[in-house]
Amino acid sequence: MRHFGRGFGVANFAVLAVLLMTTAGSSQDKPTKTEEDGKWMDAEGSPTYNIAADGKVDWYTYSGFRRYHSECHVCHGPEGEGSTYAPALIESLKTMKYPEFMNIVASGRTIQRPDKTSVMPALGDNVNVMCYLDDIFVYLKARADGALPRGTRPERSGEKPEAAAKNEKSCMGN
Ligand code: HEC
Repeated sequence: MRHFGRGFGVANFAVLAVLLMTTAGSSQDKPTKTEEDGKWMDAEGSPTYNIAADGKVDWYTYSGFRRYHSECHVCHGPEGEGSTYAPALIESLKTMKYPEFMNIVASGRTIQRPDKTSVMPALGDNVNVMCYLDDIFVYLKARADGALPRGTRPERSGEKPEAAAKNEKSCMGN
């Protein structure tokens, strides 16, 4: 074991304290996500998730969990983890941004491989997907970031926001 003089220990502590203060300061200066009517946006203006200290998620993340499992799960596997048929979206969303995600889901995409043709169907006409695309995106983003560990059944932190109900109604055409 190495022995440090008392002076070293104190100096070390001072450095640590400065580091801690710097980190705390910079995280406040960084543009972070914002919330409006229960919906969270990141600094780039793309929808994102919010998870409270008690582990409960915002409405959109909760809704996305449910929509994902009714519309995408059959091909992309439970909790976005992929299948032999379609890629793991929790890997894709580590780098894929919202506009690209939206494009692929709405317009579909075909990838030709030597051994097989891989087809993501165009879902742009499916209101059960398109009216909840932000929801599905933020759920998958939370999974991709590791904020929602595998096997978590998300609990929502509050009631459905009025804005969500309104948008849903007009999007579904009622
Ligand atoms: C009928 C099966 C099927 C369904 C249903 C389906 N997908 Fe796909 N998806 C695929 C296949 C196969 C691919 C890989 C081929 C490709 O990217 O063109 C893919 C690719 C993707 C990609 C690109 C991934 C990457 O890493 O490039 C995204 C994003 C995606 N799907 C999102 C979704 C979402 C969101 C849903 C549900 C709303 C969904 N998919 C439903 C089969 C499906």
